[in-house]
Amino acid sequence: MVPKITTLSGYIHEYQKSIANPTGFWANIAETFYWRKKWDTILEWDFQNPRIEWFKGGQLNITENIFERNQFLLGDQTAIIWEPNDPKEEARKISYNELFTEVQKFANVLRSHGVRKGDRVAMYMPMIPELTIAMLACARIGAIHSVVFAGFSANALAERIIDAEAKVLVTADGGFRGQKIIHLKDVVDEAMVDCPSIVSSIVVKRTGHNIGWNPKRDYWWHDEMAQADAVASAEIMDAEDPLYILYTSGSTGRPKGVLHTTGGYMVYTAYTFRNVFQYSSGDVFFCAADIGWVTGHSYIVYGPLLEGATSVMFEGIPTYPDAGRYWDIIKKHKVNQFYTSPTAIRSLIAQGQGWVQDIDLTDTLRVLGTVGEPINEEAWHWYHDHIGNNKCPIVDTWWQTETGGIMISAIAGVIPTKPAFASLPLPGIQPQIVDPEGKKLCGKGVEGNLCIKFPWPGMARSHWGDHERYVESYFSQYKGLYFTGDGVKRDEDGYYRILGRMDDVINVSGHRLGTAEIENAINEHPLVSESAVVGFPHDIKGQGIYAYVVCTDIPENSEEELKNSIKKGVSKMISPIARPDQILFVSGLPKTRSGKIMRRILKKIAAGSEEYGDISTLTNPEIVEEIVDKNINLNH
Ligand code: PRX
Repeated sequence: MVPKITTLSGYIHEYQKSIANPTGFWANIAETFYWRKKWDTILEWDFQNPRIEWFKGGQLNITENIFERNQFLLGDQTAIIWEPNDPKEEARKISYNELFTEVQKFANVLRSHGVRKGDRVAMYMPMIPELTIAMLACARIGAIHSVVFAGFSANALAERIIDAEAKVLVTADGGFRGQKIIHLKDVVDEAMVDCPSIVSSIVVKRTGHNIGWNPKRDYWWHDEMAQADAVASAEIMDAEDPLYILYTSGSTGRPKGVLHTTGGYMVYTAYTFRNVFQYSSGDVFFCAADIGWVTGHSYIVYGPLLEGATSVMFEGIPTYPDAGRYWDIIKKHKVNQFYTSPTAIRSLIAQGQGWVQDIDLTDTLRVLGTVGEPINEEAWHWYHDHIGNNKCPIVDTWWQTETGGIMISAIAGVIPTKPAFASLPLPGIQPQIVDPEGKKLCGKGVEGNLCIKFPWPGMARSHWGDHERYVESYFSQYKGLYFTGDGVKRDEDGYYRILGRMDDVINVSGHRLGTAEIENAINEHPLVSESAVVGFPHDIKGQGIYAYVVCTDIPENSEEELKNSIKKGVSKMISPIARPDQILFVSGLPKTRSGKIMRRILKKIAAGSEEYGDISTLTNPEIVEEIVDKNINLNH
């Protein structure tokens, strides 16, 4: 197991050590894992001409570090507690030994379908244990998994499968979410029309409803597993061999396949998991995210399982059958650490005090966590007072799909917290704040763009098939620094407060969406000639989506109809999570002489501000007045 920091002076000591000698620091942690062959070099890197390699020459398999390394210690211990959508259905407890057997069997299934080291396997699954099994089975045989969140549309799924040229797809007939059945297989069938690279799709039976079936391509999971051998050798991987691809939105173009490799990601997720949440043997850890996002990858699957934890996996939603569901799960499974998003907290606050009035979860609950977006002070206090009973520290964990694991966060009970502050960098993380011109802002009480100046083992190494875009996305803005895309403030105590995205990315309910992607989807509508999308403050979702749309023609009395059909189009092209909350039809967009849309003004208008700054550089300043008037009418 990785070493654990338990005191503030211990943190300060470890942090200083990690800055003075980063490679020595990480090598010590990496030593606690099982390597088939030790690395030749700890770190080779270059941020000017970006290339990052940790533990080069080292050989390992991440599943050997989950299963074989701890087998005698953990065999019968519960690895996964699966809590179904419907509380009347029985929860499943899967021990490390049982999970190991299932992983090996599915590894053999994948091999029997021709999957080899380096091949890509896509997953489009509900939150059921088979998803974790499939991911680990890929890791067992050196295949690269690409999990696509089950809320994405057929078009978005196909786009991701095509980009990764996935060979096999693992899916399910459907999934349960609250009162709804999500018809996943129907979406898959629609997507498959455009995905010739898929030779087999393996389907878990979850809902049992009728589905379409292609006998040349579709196989039932249970049939395949019934025939599979229970022993599968581990593929020996180089530390820098890819582990997975996860698509996320950037400020331009299509989603990018963020690529994580094996050795560094393993070391980083395990270390941050144990330290931030102060996990101790026997604790039950509940991360309420979906595995379709990076939080689930790192803190439901890899981090906890590498550290021999018991990880709760929840299929449903926080308001089903009622708004007390999370608290029931915490009580039922004696959860010690609970990790969720500010949006989930705000939506539960909106359900009223009744659900939290008489609860005390602190018999077992020790640590609370948040992730994905800035948490407002009101939500922080509610979480702290009502869920933690003033006893549980909140770790507000700042990180990104690209960082692989938590970067800036309190260590529970060790680093004192402040509402709405992510707090301090973890050992090994060297933040650098810069102004828009790239001037380094040092000392305390400064605000600017958040960069990182030294590599850490969990960082993404590339974008799948497009290293140039990786370089462009993070290393082109400020030479020699990794730019996160976030704004940040460092206060007088040296504490970090994340201010949100500085680029054209919107964070809706903790989900990252590129404005360009949404605009492309809107522009597909035959009556739309142009659009501009910005975020605006939203009480529950953090940010909502505001679309300014220019149409060639709006048939009389059909504005509402047109809005609905544009929204429908976005759901179909991307996902219902990308549906605009507000659409405003305008006759033009404010543009500079070079034709660039002045988003700064549109953001201000969407936020209801009357200060637009300088508009004299616009080619069409008169449009601002029209937009402001229409916006006022829209909101009344
Ligand atoms: O803007 C930051 C915000 O979420 C972005 C990363 O999104 P994604 O890659 O989808 O990963 C989300 C889960 C790790 C960041 O650039 N963000 C994440 N955590 C926080 C946050 N903003 C404020 N506070 C946080 N704790």
